[in-house]
Amino acid sequence: MTILSNGHQWKYSEFTDNANYSFDKNQIFKSLSSKDIDDAYASISKWKGYAPTPLISLNKLSKELNLKNIFYKDEHKRFNLKSFKALGGAYAVEKVSKGSKDIIVATATAGNHGRSVAWGAKRLGLKCKIFISEFVSDARGEAMSKLGADVVKVKGNYEKSLIECIKQSTENNWQIVQDVAWKDYMIVPKYTMAGYTVMMKEIADQINKEKITHIILQAGVGGMAAAMVAGIARYLENIPTIIVVEPDSAACVMESIKTGKIEKIDIKRESLMGGMSCGEVSLVPWEILKNSVKHCISLPDDDIAKTMKLLGNSSFSEEKIIAGENSAPGVISLISSCEDEVIKKKLQLNEKSNVLVFGCEGDTDQEMYKKLINQN
Ligand SMILES: Cc1ncc(COP(=O)(O)O)c(C=O)c1O
Repeated sequence: MTILSNGHQWKYSEFTDNANYSFDKNQIFKSLSSKDIDDAYASISKWKGYAPTPLISLNKLSKELNLKNIFYKDEHKRFNLKSFKALGGAYAVEKVSKGSKDIIVATATAGNHGRSVAWGAKRLGLKCKIFISEFVSDARGEAMSKLGADVVKVKGNYEKSLIECIKQSTENNWQIVQDVAWKDYMIVPKYTMAGYTVMMKEIADQINKEKITHIILQAGVGGMAAAMVAGIARYLENIPTIIVVEPDSAACVMESIKTGKIEKIDIKRESLMGGMSCGEVSLVPWEILKNSVKHCISLPDDDIAKTMKLLGNSSFSEEKIIAGENSAPGVISLISSCEDEVIKKKLQLNEKSNVLVFGCEGDTDQEMYKKLINQN
């Protein structure tokens, strides 16, 4: 099976000299404590409609790559919101509201986080204001309006929508529920990460005593990746090889691990992997990732659509998988690594490997999904 395009320009870097590196559970729990993690599971698992999302075996692909297992965590099925983000924003809304019906929540978003906040507000009967950049698709805006949120379009990019969100929230005393941390704003983003760790609790229950040897984590601002690292510390018996993947136009985690400090990327071209197109790693995730990541991969957009199609037509598994743009990079990274003998050996990817990849989202933007899977 030829999957990768001719001349596939990807990059793998191993930072063996990462001076910060030490997978120290106590250090990780300083950023996201086991109590934060346990509280999130205790709450979210009681929500109406909660069910663990499937862990699908990509058995056809593991056979092809000569690996023992590839597990694909399918977040398409998460609370009808179609992405893991459903766990984070909605949980943070619950935490900041503290049972009050009188507060108004607000957020700036590229789509999936806002959908989670809007849904979380609806669940609790709260009003919700969502700020989106003019570049966010109408379909994504409408999805949030349908959940009862008041959606405000802001001229300019995401940064501009965040500035407007902060301005209006300060004037009107709204509670900002953001998934990105900055100095003096760490607690709420931490709740979003605590929400994401539910994925790892489910995976630990689903792997049926198999030992995960490798885990590939997509990163935008790093919240999901860092939450999974904390989840590993909390729920898994062993520490798998952790690999972070990012778009090559926005490899902010890779650049920061390289220098040992947060590096800002000037994004010249927005990636198709929209949720991952972020120029700077967030503060709370950085405290976790800097100590736990040695392997980084950056990818171009070239094979995203094709991989979505292959996941969708059951080329990799017995069942068809609806995988959005941000779900393909884990699979592409794995194939790329296995096709390069040196990297395959370095990462010890072999017939004993159980690899975990994340299908972070389904067709969160249906029009885009259809366009991409029909394009080749
Ligand atoms: C839909 C979506 N949004 C965002 C992200 C990135 O998450 P974070 O910004 O927490 O790193 C991902 C990761 O793959 C994603 O799939």
